[in-house]
Amino acid sequence: MESKPVTPYVVGSKNPLAVAINCAAKAGEWIKSRLGDIKAVNEKFSPQDLVTDVDKGAEAMIRKLILTHFPSHDILGEEGVAPGAAASAAAWQEASSSEFLWIIDPLDGTTNFVHGFPFFCVSIALAFKGEVIIGVIYDPIRDEMFVAEKGKGSYMHGHTNRVSADARLEESIIAVGFNPDRQAAPINLKGITALSGKARSLRAGGSAALHLAYVAAGRLGGYYEVNLNAWDTAAGALMVAESGGKVTDTAGNPYHVGARNLIVSNGTIHQELMEVIEAAGATGN
Ligand code: IPD
Ligand code: CA
Ligand code: CA
Repeated sequence: MESKPVTPYVVGSKNPLAVAINCAAKAGEWIKSRLGDIKAVNEKFSPQDLVTDVDKGAEAMIRKLILTHFPSHDILGEEGVAPGAAASAAAWQEASSSEFLWIIDPLDGTTNFVHGFPFFCVSIALAFKGEVIIGVIYDPIRDEMFVAEKGKGSYMHGHTNRVSADARLEESIIAVGFNPDRQAAPINLKGITALSGKARSLRAGGSAALHLAYVAAGRLGGYYEVNLNAWDTAAGALMVAESGGKVTDTAGNPYHVGARNLIVSNGTIHQELMEVIEAAGATGN
């Protein structure tokens, strides 16, 4: 008798999606409880790039929970990597051969968190042989748990996520980022300037993962930013794809976890977005 095919990422009786949701919920609640109660704020290598005791505590909490359930899995978490684009790219390179790899941004939107601006989240992804199969993004302020599973769609509190129906860039709100990296900042600014004349409006929310979740949910038509890290994008890129949208690098190649310069959209406006960024010399390539 032929045996039934087994879903590749179900390990034993434990469900990794349930673990991811549980981790995001627990860490998110704790982060929210620490809003306005930060013990240590440190600059990574510029006043634009901050880390707090809450970022570190949230990552420690998530790592412990994941390893309790999946002791053999690997973890790539922002707080376990030295600051800077080169260290981040090298960390992904080293981790990319893992069979099961959890990719964690324990607190995406740290600058917002430090200033009490209520737009930040926990982002957790699980990759199997380099391909993201689970993505969870939790906004503890709005209690919004965005979830995506490879091949099974994306939802938020029981509602299926669908990207926006915007037909043209001029009908779309596009998210952008004031990237903290000194070299990437002027490139992003060129893109922002070019987009400001073409899109209906721009938003810089200060959380890459929430920008991606919002594109998935149809709240934004697209998102552009140069110099992102694997932990900023892994969960959200799967979410956008599973919601009918498109994620590529700025050269138009399909998303992969190591991609750092991204164009994200509902699919329909993707080409237009790409052309504006290319014409502005803002691809970062
Ligand atoms: C940052 C935020 C920000 C984006 C940066 C990220 P962090 O992540 O997502 O919106 O512009 O590129 O590094 O440091 O708050 O986790
Ligand atoms: Ca981040
Ligand atoms: Ca972070």
